Amino acid sequence: MDNRPIGFFDSGLGGLTCIPYLTKALPEERIIYFGDTARTPYGSKSASTIRRFSYEVADFLVESDVKMIAIACNTVSSVALNDLRERHPDIPILGIISPASHTVAKTCTADDRIGIIGTKATIHSGAYLDKIRSYRADLDIYQTACPAFVPLIEEGILQNDIMDLTIRYYLDQFISYNGIDVLVLGCTHYPLIRRNITKLYGGLRIIDPSEEMLLSIRDALSRHGLFAESGGENIFYASDLSENFVNMINRIFAGTGSRVTFKNFDLEEYGR
Ligand code: DGL
Repeated sequence: MDNRPIGFFDSGLGGLTCIPYLTKALPEERIIYFGDTARTPYGSKSASTIRRFSYEVADFLVESDVKMIAIACNTVSSVALNDLRERHPDIPILGIISPASHTVAKTCTADDRIGIIGTKATIHSGAYLDKIRSYRADLDIYQTACPAFVPLIEEGILQNDIMDLTIRYYLDQFISYNGIDVLVLGCTHYPLIRRNITKLYGGLRIIDPSEEMLLSIRDALSRHGLFAESGGENIFYASDLSENFVNMINRIFAGTGSRVTFKNFDLEEYGR
């Protein structure tokens, strides 16, 4: 038993898409979430910059005495997971690529044509391809980067024509040319446009890594004996606290009775 919070982090508000699954399944767990909104998007930056940013955020979470870190970001998971584990060997650090890849391997057949979409860094890393193929070598997998999605989503441009056009720009050809029938939303921001995608491409089966991550969190809490018994305050840090960020969290926790605190995290003041 361990009542310390679980630390989540992402480049911005995308990682928040993992939170409702956790609060619903494990309501006694407390959360410290860090959204690096001042420096989002990570996905179009170099691997060394992504690594540096994620060290800073993970160091802060460890200093905040979290019991586990859940990297609610495909980009950081694909580029820096092993480095983060080496840097903080005493605390469980979970990536998001593995649980989602496991679900792909478990639920897809050799007849499926699987599409992975994500940021440039995630797609160029080949992390999904490597992980899925380590479980199953017989699957047909295609991937493409959609770098304009994250800035639009951070701006709150969601259920409208601009987002639909952007989705069509990246996905029309990708889906029709490759005959994609299963789509993995390989960026935690993308579940926020899931409705647009299913409206545009009716027959797709969607795999959402933000949902799959819950399984590995639950499993790690169990293996390390870290389940919490009593809830408490959830703290949401952002390196540039935006209205969208605050509104989205308020929506997630509306009516749950959970205590939520927002904190602006000044990177400069903190000596980063
Ligand atoms: N939400 C993140 C991901 O899952 C990062 C997006 C970005 O900052 O580019 O990849």
